[in-house]
Amino acid sequence: MAEWFKDMTFYHIWPRSFMDGNGDGVGDLKGVREKLDYLQDLGVDGIWFSPLYPSPNADYGYDVADYRDIHPEFGTLEEFKALLDEAHARGMKVLMDLVVNHTSDEHPWFQASRRREEPYTDYYIWRPARKNGRHPNNWDSIFEGKAWEWDEVRGEYYLHLFAKKQPDLNMDNPAVRKEVEDICRFWLDLGVDGFREDVITFISKADGLPDDRLMPAVKGLRHYSNGPRLHEYLAQFRKVTEQYDCITVGEAPRMTPRKALEFIGGEDRVLDMFIHFQHMTADCFMVDYIRRPFSLRKLKSAMSAWQYELRGKGWNALYLENHDHPRVISRYGSEKYRVESGKMLAAMYLLQQGTAFVYQGQELGMTDLDLPSIEDYPDVSTRMNYERLKKLVGAKRALRWTKQATRVSARTPVQWTGEENGGFCPPGVEPWLRVNPNYTEINAADQERDPDSLLNFYKALLRFRKEPVIRYGKYREYFPAGKWFYIYDRTYKGEKILVVCSFTELQVAFQPPYSLKNAEKLFGNYPGLTDAMRPYEVRVYRLRDE
Ligand code: GLC
Ligand code: CA
Repeated sequence: MAEWFKDMTFYHIWPRSFMDGNGDGVGDLKGVREKLDYLQDLGVDGIWFSPLYPSPNADYGYDVADYRDIHPEFGTLEEFKALLDEAHARGMKVLMDLVVNHTSDEHPWFQASRRREEPYTDYYIWRPARKNGRHPNNWDSIFEGKAWEWDEVRGEYYLHLFAKKQPDLNMDNPAVRKEVEDICRFWLDLGVDGFREDVITFISKADGLPDDRLMPAVKGLRHYSNGPRLHEYLAQFRKVTEQYDCITVGEAPRMTPRKALEFIGGEDRVLDMFIHFQHMTADCFMVDYIRRPFSLRKLKSAMSAWQYELRGKGWNALYLENHDHPRVISRYGSEKYRVESGKMLAAMYLLQQGTAFVYQGQELGMTDLDLPSIEDYPDVSTRMNYERLKKLVGAKRALRWTKQATRVSARTPVQWTGEENGGFCPPGVEPWLRVNPNYTEINAADQERDPDSLLNFYKALLRFRKEPVIRYGKYREYFPAGKWFYIYDRTYKGEKILVVCSFTELQVAFQPPYSLKNAEKLFGNYPGLTDAMRPYEVRVYRLRDE
């Protein structure tokens, strides 16, 4: 069983917006290859690629039309192999996104299934209409209306937990599970080092697909989150992946640390880590598309729960950003204190125990984008959230709230330079999505030259993460009820790392949990030391037993 991932940091690439290598305004593999030096210099140990597969892009790659190829917009399978070899030559690992809860409706399996062609007839979740043409049950889709769509060709409804163009696979069909095994083998034989598994905790639906009798925000969720045969199916896939030196990371909405240990705990674990959501709702009200003021206590209690409960039993995946959430500085930090809060947030999560993920542009402190109208946001889930909000609070407020919550903010092209298009694509070419106009102030080229930049702070932290105290150190939080500071330490073999993070722009006096007389300040985002903590200040101290 692989252990090598435990002191690693993975860089998460959402390929469409990372780097355009051939000048058509869309990111691609050629662009990634050009940036391998940058990634190595940053100090990451590997890359997780959001889907690279051919896809009609109803959900930008999360609607897969072919599991064994590369989207022509991104390049070819040959180019991918070359990239993989280059990454490996640099000692970097590569994880693919495995999207098997659903396919695209343009996948040949779905096309055959709707025509009832064997062996594909039962590859998806088809049901006849109930009386008077009613849906087979009352579930909602997470992305688009109700969870059922009528198919004229087949004369039945199919289930789609996400968009209409993302029909759910019928994982209860052994032939479908065999396909998943074969897809895993295909990429592992090619040399990839593992998978991030998209909404993997949704693959087993409750027997009989019962109506949801309660009134939650999304009806049905309880009937397929961590469903009845999830463990059995993951164990089956593990039998395949364990024949390779690889890792598996499951995306897991609604996961708690205690529940997680049933899957990622101990030697017979069926996944190596979970990407859970509990620390990503510290500024959310009931649902993630309605915002409330940020609550530090909520963030701390989620972070600490995972640190404490997994200790010695399972392994954490640490992240603050990905392609599904707005930029973290705009949420948990401050755009006014962008660099300061960016550094504080980086130290806050990167010094905890776990394998870390850094999302493209996070290391530059990219911020949310403000676009004029809802039509400018190319994302099926953003559109639906807007429609829902519009009914509740009217168009104007709905747009304002949508802008605060949309994942499109994380999908703007990476800002490489201060030149036109932020250096993402050549001048004069129109990028597929608007570059945030603040690229003149926020870009990689400037930050490489500035020793105090956020980028250089990330580099230093990623190097420091290789110290044994980060991999092995015991975690302890202090003053958890405090509303301004997040304070924790990590202890290992006579060494202690104390991390003090201020989440306010107020200057607040700081009482250390123990004497810092012989402490050495390792990292900070302000010069020197003062009695009060400065806005969004972070201090990282090292203490050694005498
Ligand atoms: C996951 C992905 C997200 C996608 C959804 C449906 O949450 O991270 O981007 O839209 O699954 O595949
Ligand atoms: Ca391109």
